[in-house]
Amino acid sequence: MYKSHTCGELRSEHAGQQVTLAGWVHRRRDHGGVTFIDLRDRFGIVQVVANPENAPEAHRPLVEVRSEWVLQITGLVRLRPSGMENPRLPTGEIEVEAIEVRILNPSKTPPFLINKDEEVDEQARLKYRYLDLRKERMRDNLILRHRVVKFIRDFLDERGFIEVETPILFKATPEGARDYLVPSRVHPGEFYALPQSPQQLKQLLMVGGIERYFQIARCFRDEDQRGDRQPEFTQLDLEMSFIEREDIMDLVEEMYTKLVKQVVPDKKIFATPWPRLTYQEAMVRFGKDNPDLRFGMELHDLTEWSAGCGFKVFEDTVAQGGQVRGINARGLGEYSRKQIDELTSWVGQYGARGLAYLAITPAGEERSSFAKFLTSDKLQELKTSFDAQPGDLILIVADRPPIVFESLGRLRVYLADRLGLRSPDIFAFCWVIDFPLVNWNEGEKRWDPSHHLFTAPISEDIPLLDEDPSRARGQQYDLVLNDNEIGGGSIRIHDRSLQEKVFKLIGLDPQVAQERFGHMLEAFEYGPPPHGGIASGIDRLCMILADAPNIREVIAFPKNQAARDVMADAPSPVEEQQLKELHIRLDL
Ligand code: AMO
Repeated sequence: MYKSHTCGELRSEHAGQQVTLAGWVHRRRDHGGVTFIDLRDRFGIVQVVANPENAPEAHRPLVEVRSEWVLQITGLVRLRPSGMENPRLPTGEIEVEAIEVRILNPSKTPPFLINKDEEVDEQARLKYRYLDLRKERMRDNLILRHRVVKFIRDFLDERGFIEVETPILFKATPEGARDYLVPSRVHPGEFYALPQSPQQLKQLLMVGGIERYFQIARCFRDEDQRGDRQPEFTQLDLEMSFIEREDIMDLVEEMYTKLVKQVVPDKKIFATPWPRLTYQEAMVRFGKDNPDLRFGMELHDLTEWSAGCGFKVFEDTVAQGGQVRGINARGLGEYSRKQIDELTSWVGQYGARGLAYLAITPAGEERSSFAKFLTSDKLQELKTSFDAQPGDLILIVADRPPIVFESLGRLRVYLADRLGLRSPDIFAFCWVIDFPLVNWNEGEKRWDPSHHLFTAPISEDIPLLDEDPSRARGQQYDLVLNDNEIGGGSIRIHDRSLQEKVFKLIGLDPQVAQERFGHMLEAFEYGPPPHGGIASGIDRLCMILADAPNIREVIAFPKNQAARDVMADAPSPVEEQQLKELHIRLDL
């Protein structure tokens, strides 16, 4: 037995007991010949004292030990002398007087300090991830993640769901990203694709009569990396038969509400029941389909007001079919010209060619890039529509609608951060529904599914597939939490002819559809039940629950932003022989 207790569990009631501990040297100090070791394991830290006079045998090995050496220590628990307690440590009332010390392993000096929460270059953290994992923050994030997944498994189990594993070596399952391919040795020239999600498989499980499926599923997508994306990530994937949209939304709402209460009880849910916004409403009010509801600063539509307003930039934009919208950043009315110029170049990255402003200092002095072109009536109308007050900064973008929405939607969040309006202790969940079924892809001149090609249209919109596809809504629902999309799902098409109609609409040649999805189309001829489901990003959810700055913080061994594993150095070249076996010749 290496240990009788963990380093985190000893309290004053253990005083007088002999214990055996094992762990790492968190810190070592000498005081007048007496050696103090903070011994750490996954469960906590405890102070060990070795006195060369009382226990020379135990003290001797401790002279040479350094941070991160691995020790086994047997000793006597005793209360710390009065006034020497450490209220910041759960074990701070006691210490362990060493009787016997065994060095289990020495350690090189780590490339960064484990016992301090200091800024460390992330590449170094990723290269030495096994050392980074020893830190309190990473340990806590992994524990949180474990609790989240455990809660989900228990919750769904109680409701009759079963967890079913689906293959990793499969066929392309399009979710809008590139596939990771795996060459087959036994079938020269043929490839498996790693699943971007288990979408088709879970639908086939419904055809297979499973009715309530879930999986903590690994997904693989070759796409541009961002703070909230990884090439391989984990979804809570679920699917149900004989249900409607409301059933799925209610189930997930109940599950995550209870999860927050149990796993992070100090956090508050912003509103219950969770608000439900249509896609249209989310865009018009917040400029995004993943809105942060924790604060106002909503978008105002100035398009109608702009016609004939006197300011040519707005007038011309509207005349060319563009839009004019703005936000009021309360509290930033004192921003200098330079600060506003910085915001202008910031929105430039989202395509906005300018940012018109009206700033009102707290003393009521007004500065504006466009007010001088307006009649006093028009200016008054504008102020009324924003309820302009001293201290306000009104910022306006005139452009094509996608640019107006994206730049203002992001600016709103950016400024809310500066104003301290985005408390990490408040969770604003909401549902966004009624997405357009398809979006026009101007580059390819075709309709693309806005969720994926198995999403059912809202029944009354089916005729629109022929008449005006842009107006057809899908039975899709996105789950949003504090400016992050943490889930998405839909009711599926379970009728072969409707599925074929959607394939046709998105320009999928029937022969190609047969090659790629023949197994789905065929399965749909054998009585598929009405069904639907959702997948929710576990990494993203944990990132928010842990208030972590990016998704890598809640993944034990993530890839870096260039999709590399810098610890193992993957991807990496392979032996010529291996390529040969796989019938692959490189063309670099
Ligand atoms: P979707 O593509 O919306 O839907 O994915 C569901 C959720 O998975 C998370 N997610 C990611 N997390 C980390 N890194 C990534 N690269 C990444 N991509 C997606 C997001 C997202 O909301 N099969 C459908 C679900 C369904 O229809 O049931 C699907 O995968 O939180």
